[in-house]
Amino acid sequence: MKIAVLPGDGIGTEIVAEAVRVLGVLDLKLEMETALVGGAAYEAHGHPLPESTLKLAKESDAVLFGAVGDWKYDKLDRPLRPEQAILGLRKNLGLFANFRPAICYEQLVGASSLKPELISGLDILIIRELTGDIYFGAPRGRRTAVDGHFPGADEAFDTMRYSRPEVERIAHVAFQAARKRSKRVTSVDKANVLETFQFWKDIVTEVGKEYPDVELDHMYVDNAAMQLVKAPKKFDVVVTGNMFGDILSDEAAMLTGSIGMLPSASLNSSNQGLYEPSHGSAPDIAGKGVANPLATILSAAMMLRFSLNQPEAAARIESAVQQVLASGLRTGDIWSEGTKRVGTREMGDAVVAAITKKTITG
Ligand code: IPM
Ligand code: MN
Repeated sequence: MKIAVLPGDGIGTEIVAEAVRVLGVLDLKLEMETALVGGAAYEAHGHPLPESTLKLAKESDAVLFGAVGDWKYDKLDRPLRPEQAILGLRKNLGLFANFRPAICYEQLVGASSLKPELISGLDILIIRELTGDIYFGAPRGRRTAVDGHFPGADEAFDTMRYSRPEVERIAHVAFQAARKRSKRVTSVDKANVLETFQFWKDIVTEVGKEYPDVELDHMYVDNAAMQLVKAPKKFDVVVTGNMFGDILSDEAAMLTGSIGMLPSASLNSSNQGLYEPSHGSAPDIAGKGVANPLATILSAAMMLRFSLNQPEAAARIESAVQQVLASGLRTGDIWSEGTKRVGTREMGDAVVAAITKKTITG
């Protein structure tokens, strides 16, 4: 089993180091190879996704990814910005299905800005289509308009588009995921305004007929944004397009108290996957040893389950994380009165200790 380890920028290197340590104590035969990506790769090779990094990712069964980006690259031409690395990996590996669970850990109920009763027991799975939509639609660009709303003025444009197979395959992913959960899917669209999302809605409805055991409902994205903070527990599996999924998954993350806890998986049709925390590179706290490594550690667990077929090892990591939270250790992002504040490394140590102790006692 080969894993490409791409720590990236900012806190990426610190949190990925802890996940790699955790993977190392599981007694699995894992071959891990590290490469540069994002701003770090731009500095070294002049490109955020060098050929060698892409090649390594393609040859691996899974990619463990940290985070990319830093304000200092904001002035670079778009193709050279760190974010292009993650977009390039998604596109080149065909990682169309993005799983973003939002789970509220009981010990962290108090860390959310929502009332405890609204989020206690929360367990939502957002499934975001990841290689289509306005993110990748052509044409896009800038031009001097001849027939725009302001004739003769400069304009910029992006194209929102979905093809039938793109919508069908993500719909199947959602219905199949729902079958393993509470058998409910909410498809989020903007069919009242956008042709692309009327098409989306029609196709999801069609595919849904193949899953009569799964209950399907549809919601406009603006209403979904509202319902997510009003009554989040009404959702189970949410399936949506690339851009709506980007926005709603950040919103859902905040329901749980900290984005520092949330893993994610991006899969292609052969179950090759890229695993990354749902948060970014947090340049403001990079290098300080205070970032929460748990989202990355939990992403490593998802990797074991989805791409490496090691569900038991995945469960060992997840139960270790639960134990560490129960013991009261907290990084700054999830700290509250009465708990013990620790740094990135100590948090990693604690997870490693919880796993290895379990091995000895069986
Ligand atoms: C995410 C991020 C990315 C996205 C950026 C960094 C390109 O926000 O993974 O949600 O918009 O998809
Ligand atoms: Mn995002």
